Amino acid sequence: MERSKAIPVEETGSVKETVSFTLNQKQVAIEVDATARLTDIIRNQLNQTGTKLSCGIGRCGACSVIIDSKLVNSCLVMAYQIDGSTISTIEGIWEEESLHPIQQAFLEEGGFQCGYCTPGMILATKALLDQEPDPTDEQIKTALSGNLCRCTGYGGIIRAVKKARIMLK
Ligand code: FES
Ligand code: FES
Repeated sequence: MERSKAIPVEETGSVKETVSFTLNQKQVAIEVDATARLTDIIRNQLNQTGTKLSCGIGRCGACSVIIDSKLVNSCLVMAYQIDGSTISTIEGIWEEESLHPIQQAFLEEGGFQCGYCTPGMILATKALLDQEPDPTDEQIKTALSGNLCRCTGYGGIIRAVKKARIMLK
C-alpha cells in the first residue's frame, strides 16, 4: 500500500491524512488522523458498527475485517496502511437483503448468544471458506483460533462453519 500525503493541522498539532479505499464495494476517500486505527475509522467515521472493539491489542478478533482477501484485526491496522486497499466488514456480506449463508448457518446452529464476537467469527469463516471451500476440522479450528467467544462456547460455532461449508457448495 502506498502511503498517502500527510497534512499537518496547525491548531492541534495533530496530523491528518487523506486515504482512499474500497469499503464493502463502495469507494471511500476521507481525511483521518494519522494515528487512527482502522477500527475507529470504520466505527466512528463511517458508522459501520458491526465491527466491535474489545481488547484493542490484537487478542480477541472482535474487530476482524477482511482486507484484500485476508482476515485482519482492524485494531492493529493504522490509517496509512489502508490507502488503496479493499476492505469488507460484516455489513458488506449481506446478499441482496437476505442473510449470507454463513450468517444463516450461525443462526440455525446457535453459533452466538450476545453476538459481540459474531461479526468477527463470521468474517473468519468467510475468509476460510473463500480460500478453502472444504476445510478439515483442524483447519476450521485454526481459522477460528484468533477469535474469542466468552459466552456461547465453540460447539455451535464449529457446527455453523460446517453447515456453511455445505450451504456454500
Ligand atoms: S479488538 Fe482487535 S483483536 Fe480485540
Ligand atoms: S456470543 Fe458472546 S462473546 Fe461470542
